[in-house]
Amino acid sequence: MTASIPVALGSDHAGVGLKATLRAALEEAGHPVLDLGTDGPESVDYPDFADAVARAVLDGRARFGVLVCGTGIGISIAANRHPGIRCALAQDATTARLSREHNDANVLALGARVTGPEVALDALRAFLATPFAGGRHERRVRKLTPDWSPRP
Ligand code: RB5
Repeated sequence: MTASIPVALGSDHAGVGLKATLRAALEEAGHPVLDLGTDGPESVDYPDFADAVARAVLDGRARFGVLVCGTGIGISIAANRHPGIRCALAQDATTARLSREHNDANVLALGARVTGPEVALDALRAFLATPFAGGRHERRVRKLTPDWSPRP
């Protein structure tokens, strides 16, 4: 789970606990983290944190983003409004892995109220460990992101 470019993290109040769990695991693995909030239990709006993480990925401050809200639905919808972001709402390690292999997802979304911490950690590890498979998937990803190009 180690790499030199940070992973950007963001959540709303419903996801703040799971975000802290994911952050601790990343830091323990020596992975740099850019935590863009929220930082406490006060009610906030998930699009604001999706926007912050999307911007960090698009401008190169982060290689990947991870977003958490109650279900993962709202925050993934918000992230996917940014051209160039391919945010995958994953339920487990399998969906997280396939989002990298097939979709070259650059943001992982998780739902803290529907996905337990161990499953979420497995999903995060699978997401970060899996390369894009290329081949037939490149044509499809270009239909999502016309200026897409392979990344090392
Ligand atoms: C917040 O109550 C909740 O609506 C939010 O975390 C998320 O689940 C929305 O999709």
